[in-house]
Amino acid sequence: MTQKVIIIGGIGSGSVIAEAIKDANQRGYNEISVEGFLNDRAEAGTMLDGTPSLGIHTSESIKEFYNRGYKFIYSLHRIGGERRMIQLFEELGLKPEMLATFVHPTAYVARNVQIDPGAVIMPYVMISSAAHISLNTLIMTGATVGHNTTTGEFSHIASQAVVGAYIKMGKGSNVGLNATVLEYKTIGQFSVVGMGSVLTKNVPDNEIWVGNPAHFLRVAE
Ligand SMILES: CC(C)(COP(=O)(O)OP(=O)(O)OC[C@H]1O[C@@H](n2cnc3c(N)ncnc32)[C@H](O)[C@@H]1OP(=O)(O)O)[C@@H](O)C(=O)NCCC(=O)NCCS
Repeated sequence: MTQKVIIIGGIGSGSVIAEAIKDANQRGYNEISVEGFLNDRAEAGTMLDGTPSLGIHTSESIKEFYNRGYKFIYSLHRIGGERRMIQLFEELGLKPEMLATFVHPTAYVARNVQIDPGAVIMPYVMISSAAHISLNTLIMTGATVGHNTTTGEFSHIASQAVVGAYIKMGKGSNVGLNATVLEYKTIGQFSVVGMGSVLTKNVPDNEIWVGNPAHFLRVAE
């Protein structure tokens, strides 16, 4: 049976995920369907890049839809805004069992990869053996995750980034567009590897690193 899904979010990551789910449906993948958005400002019926808003997100509206059999994808994400997004997730009463997981059919995901609730794996992503994709990880188009790597809860890997093997990403961490991370490295909680960077060292918590080889830029917000 197809699981009906509501995306918490809207234009941006939300609409990108909505379109990827619709594309998957056209290719014959019918495990989930996207019914609309719940977000912070668009009233029910407003179209957001081709997908309707079902209303404003509140803990009540989420509970009501969940009781009616819907599940959720939490797409809210902003570099520097992760703490607030995690706080909102908790305020909205969202729990792992209320979340859907989406793996686009063009993604290569080794059969022994662990994928936790709420994870989104977009088209043409590659995830190698024994990786662990944690709660609400968002892996964007064409990114690669090496074997035995663990992503952090609420972490984000941007398009075309390459995260090597045996890497540990912290909660709320980000790897930017087209960045590359050397194997066995650690990216701390709420830390960022900037777009195009080549990371060869461990990044502590709450730091932004950029460049090739990547160096400390500033403390993260
Ligand atoms: C790393 C990042 C967060 C820094 O943002 P910021 O704090 O606003 O930084 P600024 O733009 O003020 O730049 C500060 C300095 O760092 C440099 N810099 C910024 N990002 C850089 C990067 N990725 N690589 C190399 N240098 C970078 C800037 O050129 C600037 O250098 P200068 O002081 O010599 O002029 C941002 O540049 C970035 O890479 N974001 C990721 C984008 C992304 O992947 N989005 C994915 C979704 S679309």
